[in-house]
Amino acid sequence: MPVHMRNLIAGNWIEASGRATFEIRDPATDEPVASVPLCGATEAVLAVDAAAEAAAGWRQRPALERSSIVRRWGDLVLAHTNELADVLTREQGKPLAEARGEIAYAASFLAGAADLAPHFGGDVIPGPAASKHIFVLRPPVGVVAAITPWNFPAAMITRKLGPALAVGCTAVVKPAEQAPLTGLALARLAGEAGVPAGVLNAITGDAAAIGRAWLGDARVRKLSFTGSTAVGRVLIRQAAEHITRLSLELGGLAPFVVFEDADLAAAVRGAMLAKFRNAGQTCICPNRFYVQRSIYEEFLGRLHHALGELRLGHGLDAGVTTGPLIDDDAVAKVRMHIADARDRGASLRKGGDFVRPSATLSGRFCTPTLLSGLTPEMAIAREETFGPVAAVGIFDDEAEAFALANASPYGLAAYAYTRDLARAMRAAEAIEAGIVGINDGGVSTAVAPFGGLKESGWGREGGRWALEAYTDVKYVSIA
Ligand code: SIN
Repeated sequence: MPVHMRNLIAGNWIEASGRATFEIRDPATDEPVASVPLCGATEAVLAVDAAAEAAAGWRQRPALERSSIVRRWGDLVLAHTNELADVLTREQGKPLAEARGEIAYAASFLAGAADLAPHFGGDVIPGPAASKHIFVLRPPVGVVAAITPWNFPAAMITRKLGPALAVGCTAVVKPAEQAPLTGLALARLAGEAGVPAGVLNAITGDAAAIGRAWLGDARVRKLSFTGSTAVGRVLIRQAAEHITRLSLELGGLAPFVVFEDADLAAAVRGAMLAKFRNAGQTCICPNRFYVQRSIYEEFLGRLHHALGELRLGHGLDAGVTTGPLIDDDAVAKVRMHIADARDRGASLRKGGDFVRPSATLSGRFCTPTLLSGLTPEMAIAREETFGPVAAVGIFDDEAEAFALANASPYGLAAYAYTRDLARAMRAAEAIEAGIVGINDGGVSTAVAPFGGLKESGWGREGGRWALEAYTDVKYVSIA
């Protein structure tokens, strides 16, 4: 029986004006899971009113007090792992084990921010004259807006709001239209943890109208967005009006480079983790594999074998490793990338079609796919696929590998496998990406500065970099 979940403004669980709603459907079955309010500009402004009203009280609380509330929020998230993971799988489709992993990942951003914030402050630096002292302060930026994606409905919210709240900002958040239920459940737990009314406000609905209202409101001093580069460009233009600070974690097109001296078993394990987690729907998953000629066929053979271990199905069913794609647009894009690659000469080694794993499931399940013969003009070498498709090309030497890896306007993540330490260091330096995994396919962690170069965005999330992102720098010169 589908439930209805309301939105949170100023501590009250509210409906949209006119009581408009929209449905959230399980992408694996197409069945309705819940309905939520269809908010727009009116509610977006009300949410900012609440966050602005709560701002002075929250920033004046001692950092230790704010941190212990954020820590309690993280503890409650962990204590509710099973319920949250169940909702997450139903609305987003990822297997339950991955959903549980995401809840732990989400909680780690809250614990990390709670650990760091009480120690995070400014500096005292020598003044330019004996009679002067300079204090550098780090005040919270004020009201923060967060717009989060459907592929990590829990972790992308806590990655933004944990540090924002811990340093004294108040927040308005809009979880993705496709999967907002986990985010609303997190907002409820924040209240139970002691986050005061108005400090965290969560609304669902019309992304364009809400984003425009927030960037058109001078009280919003920062917006943090995870999503596509195309939407990032729109936000940059809108942010010009009030010179609103932006953190943008945008699209990726990660290269995965395997040198002939690599540990091939480790490279295949890393490829499986990086590429096939969340059915290939992560910003940091490899879109382009480049393998040195002498080991090309062996790598393809091993990856082919590993793909045979994946099981499609509903994420709540035991043994399932790979869920559905999120919606029909995602299916169309993945189909197009496979067809385009084949039209341009790629060989289909495995998969390549969409199936219904059982009569009750939708047709959004892409069979794990392996393509060889990747070349630079293929769409899959130029645009993010967001599906369980590994496309593999050849290179002959290091210079060619680095040139292929860097032949992209994107620069979020990259991976390189080699046993040669000097080559590993050269790869780390040469490859243009904000995150480089050397012999590591699992680079995600709350302690590191996550973010991209080039058209993959601005700013860093995680560790102390996240705290910096939600604070201003102000110096006081005392004579
Ligand atoms: C993303 O896909 O945007 C986030 C992936 C991660 O944090 O592991």
